[in-house]
Amino acid sequence: MKTALITGGAQRIGAQITQTLHARDYNVIIHYRNSNKKAQSLADKLNKVRANSAILVQAELSDIQALQILANSIKHLNLLVNNASIFYPTPVQNTDENDWNKIINTNLMAPFFLSQYLSATLSKNNGCIINIVDIHAHRPLKNHAIYNISKAGVLMMTQTLAKELAPEIRVCGVAPGSILWPENEAEINDEQKHNILSKIPLNKQGSPEDIANAVLFLTISTYITGQVINVDGGRTLNQ
Ligand SMILES: NC(=O)c1ccc[n+]([C@@H]2O[C@H](COP(=O)([O-])OP(=O)(O)OC[C@H]3O[C@@H](n4cnc5c(N)ncnc54)[C@H](OP(=O)(O)O)[C@@H]3O)[C@@H](O)[C@H]2O)c1
Repeated sequence: MKTALITGGAQRIGAQITQTLHARDYNVIIHYRNSNKKAQSLADKLNKVRANSAILVQAELSDIQALQILANSIKHLNLLVNNASIFYPTPVQNTDENDWNKIINTNLMAPFFLSQYLSATLSKNNGCIINIVDIHAHRPLKNHAIYNISKAGVLMMTQTLAKELAPEIRVCGVAPGSILWPENEAEINDEQKHNILSKIPLNKQGSPEDIANAVLFLTISTYITGQVINVDGGRTLNQ
């Protein structure tokens, strides 16, 4: 049995990646921060399908010590999916060091150090790291400077680690376009949604399944490393 750790794996896109990998015989370690109930009910559902196939780990990923504790708790791993991320506007003139640390540490520091800390077991198992990037790693989303910078860093991290951790570990990425509308502090209005949809050649948002399927494709494509696949309905053609 292969084992996958999915960060932010309790809800939205992360939960779909968790379920897709589980359906392809992965045992899953579902990381969550606040979504305790969703994580528990997902693990219960998966353990009913296959006993002892899903466990939970809780961690605040912007905290380097928590990353160490999380990594130390994992003895065997075949696949690390760096999915967790934080997203909210940070207009350049109206942002501070606190936003910088929160976003950069969660979106960029955590995937880097989890990759480093877990590289020994991934290497032993000829494993794989998949980073969930964003099409805005290439072209910026207005008023989201720190998020853009964090995802551009994840893109370069994917390429850098692919070179450095080869041949034992493959490192790839999936860059979603518009999949699920942001929630809470990052919510957008109907006009903004319409504006985004109007620029997507396939004329609709993608689904979490679209992202999970691309992750799955990369896990089985054993001659691909260092590549980031856009899953965006053609959105980058109009950027
Ligand atoms: N949604 C889209 O359309 C879209 C578009 C482009 C790229 N993406 C990328 O796709 C991935 C998934 O997107 P999503 O919209 O499903 O993500 P999301 O719901 O915004 O966040 C995923 C999870 O990240 C966890 N998280 C956030 N900050 C954390 C922290 N400091 N420490 C630990 N966990 C933290 C949260 O876990 P808890 O709930 O347990 O706190 C959250 O459920 C992300 O990498 C995102 O950047 C998404």
